[in-house]
Amino acid sequence: MAESAVNDGELAAAGLRFDIDGAVATITLSRPERRNAMTLATWRGLATIGQTLPDDVRVVVVRGEGPSFSAGIDLGMFAQGADGPFSDVDDDFIAGLQAGYLWLRRPEIVSIAAVQGHAIGGGFQLALACDLRVITDDASFCMKEPALGIVPDLTGSKPLVDIVGYPRALELCLTSRTVPADEAARLGLAELVVPAADLDGAVGDLVAALLAVRPATAVATKRLLAQAGRNTLTEQAAAERRAQLPLLADLFQKR
Ligand code: ACO
Repeated sequence: MAESAVNDGELAAAGLRFDIDGAVATITLSRPERRNAMTLATWRGLATIGQTLPDDVRVVVVRGEGPSFSAGIDLGMFAQGADGPFSDVDDDFIAGLQAGYLWLRRPEIVSIAAVQGHAIGGGFQLALACDLRVITDDASFCMKEPALGIVPDLTGSKPLVDIVGYPRALELCLTSRTVPADEAARLGLAELVVPAADLDGAVGDLVAALLAVRPATAVATKRLLAQAGRNTLTEQAAAERRAQLPLLADLFQKR
């Protein structure tokens, strides 16, 4: 494992671990005794990892230690009421927390959430912040925020709508109901559902498959697909040409 640029002690205090093995970085939510509930330090720690990620990392795996992926926000912060951290916040405050999630969609990496047990609120949104989700057959998702009087604001609302569509997203948010693994897979919230004992192996196989693609091709493909939803067919065809020409030149140009 390589040394990371982030301070391990600070990360541990934020309930995080960070490891790099070649082109693969792994972020572990590591407060299992609190079901990996997240504090402000957790979200800021995630942002720091994103800011200091080495350029040669191509895949980022986000996983949780223990029975749950994450129980979302640490409810202790809510319980403090007017004396707590949310009594006087502004746009920059929320943007700073969102920064912990946004970088996971960077074109230079593919991010994978490995989800077991519960993914609730901010935990569900962290799974949504990743490009891909591999889940266990005992996993479940719950967008708890509206039940607590708030909206999902950790960048989860867009990927949720993109994946399940507006009506289903509205229903999931406003009922805060728990979505079991089989339904999650049907809705497109998981690329793969596996028995709990197979999670690490399945993620490892996926990582190996992703790394088998040439780095420039992987980045170009992610950029291309990420813009498809907002482009017209003509615009997307032009984007395909722009993406392909340098790859063809690199593969086939006479030396
Ligand atoms: N914040 C703080 N502590 C938590 C949280 C949380 N979100 N979730 C669990 N814990 C603590 C429990 O209080 C308990 O502590 P204790 O051992 O001192 O009693 C410990 O973690 C284990 O929790 P259990 O409830 O005993 O574990 P179980 O596996 O039975 O249930 C579950 C797990 C379903 C995640 C349950 O703990 C739960 O519903 N937690 C609250 C989830 C929630 O509402 N999160 C807010 C989402 S909204 C947002 O993120 C913005």
